[in-house]
Amino acid sequence: MSKQSRENLDKKAASRRRFLQAGIAGGATLAAAATARAAGDPAITEVQDWNRYLGDGVDAAPYGQPSEFEAHVVRRDVPWLTADPVSSINFTPLHDLDGIITPNGVCFERHHGGTAIIDPAEHRLMINGLVDKQLVFTMDDLKRFPRENRVYFLECAANSGMEWRGAQLNGCQFTHGMVHCVVYTGVPLKYLLEEAGVKTNGKWVLAEGADAAAMTRSIPMEKALEDCLVAFKMNGEALRPEQGYPIRLCVPGWEGNMWVKWLRRIEVGDEPWAQREETSKYTDLLPDGTARRHTWVMDVKSVITSPSPQAPITHGRGRTVISGLAWSGNGKVTRVDVSLDGGRNWQTARLDGPSLSKALHRFYFDFDWDGSPLLIQSRAMDEAGFIQPTKNELRAVRGTNSIYHNNGIQTWHVKGDGVVENVEVS
Ligand code: MTE
Ligand code: CO
Repeated sequence: MSKQSRENLDKKAASRRRFLQAGIAGGATLAAAATARAAGDPAITEVQDWNRYLGDGVDAAPYGQPSEFEAHVVRRDVPWLTADPVSSINFTPLHDLDGIITPNGVCFERHHGGTAIIDPAEHRLMINGLVDKQLVFTMDDLKRFPRENRVYFLECAANSGMEWRGAQLNGCQFTHGMVHCVVYTGVPLKYLLEEAGVKTNGKWVLAEGADAAAMTRSIPMEKALEDCLVAFKMNGEALRPEQGYPIRLCVPGWEGNMWVKWLRRIEVGDEPWAQREETSKYTDLLPDGTARRHTWVMDVKSVITSPSPQAPITHGRGRTVISGLAWSGNGKVTRVDVSLDGGRNWQTARLDGPSLSKALHRFYFDFDWDGSPLLIQSRAMDEAGFIQPTKNELRAVRGTNSIYHNNGIQTWHVKGDGVVENVEVS
């Protein structure tokens, strides 16, 4: 074993010992408060109204809603970001969620022409172009193909795009909230293409939406056959209108803009339909004036969701849970490290819950906070061997004129009073 790695191991052991000692002390603070409460907290000694009076009966809410005390957990937007709400974006309240699944009602929305309201009885999916036979499917037809259930994240390529030039938005909802992760039920696109019979020169598919923006995206045939899904359910229920009801395309691990909502047509061609797409939009301008194109995969990324600016530490020092999300368009996340000192020292976080390819992963780091200011960061690694870069490493390659594909490490400054701010460390 090299001197370096032995030193690392020694450091790790020492930090583990410190953690255990701190854990015992931190536990004591929590236990003391809990013991004091047992001596006479009115919330436990007095009978409360909800303990005394009958509640609503079973039919009060045929479609249930979250508790009224959770009314703050909503999608939010940044009004100055776009001129009009029909071509705009809002953000998932990541700081208030846990686990890996995003509830349907708070999945961020991105529309280029507003939400299309479509009667499924009137909806059709056409397959045309370089195929043996053109086909038009009804919703009933689609539901006769073998179905699959898969959990995927969808991230807009513009997620964290406002942070290229420096820390700007004060909350992970705004810096990282253009992502959601649900269980999709649908038919593999492969089965539909097989039914139509792709001609040998069919190398690309064009997916077209039925919305007013008639959004179209070219996807290489290899990806279409590998894992694309025509989904009609999310988290067990029909897609929400804003997520593409009655059907959307899932393009796992790739930029959100390719996940065409309100999908109405798949055309098979021999080259990408570049001239019909807003190709200039989804490219990354590099410092030398050239551009990066066809950067479809969403690279490995993570963010601490709590504590974060919208989720400050309110319990004071002692036992503290750091919680966050990690994901990669290349497959599974294999490890997440957390730093409390702006990236000088790193400790491995605990991944918890299902670890699924191209899905969100949940991590936790349980520690004892001594009340001193922290610079907290998370750094994810994926099964393809990629490590999430620092923002400065990214800027060295891509400059600051980019909008898309910012997967740099996020820093939150936790102050002594538990208030958290978006900052950058050099
Ligand atoms: N599909 C259609 N038909 N119209 C759109 O405006 N927006 C795209 C994509 N699919 C869009 C679309 C973009 S840019 C993203 S990031 C995702 O949908 C957002 O999906 P969501 O609204 O379910 O979050
Ligand atoms: Co997008």
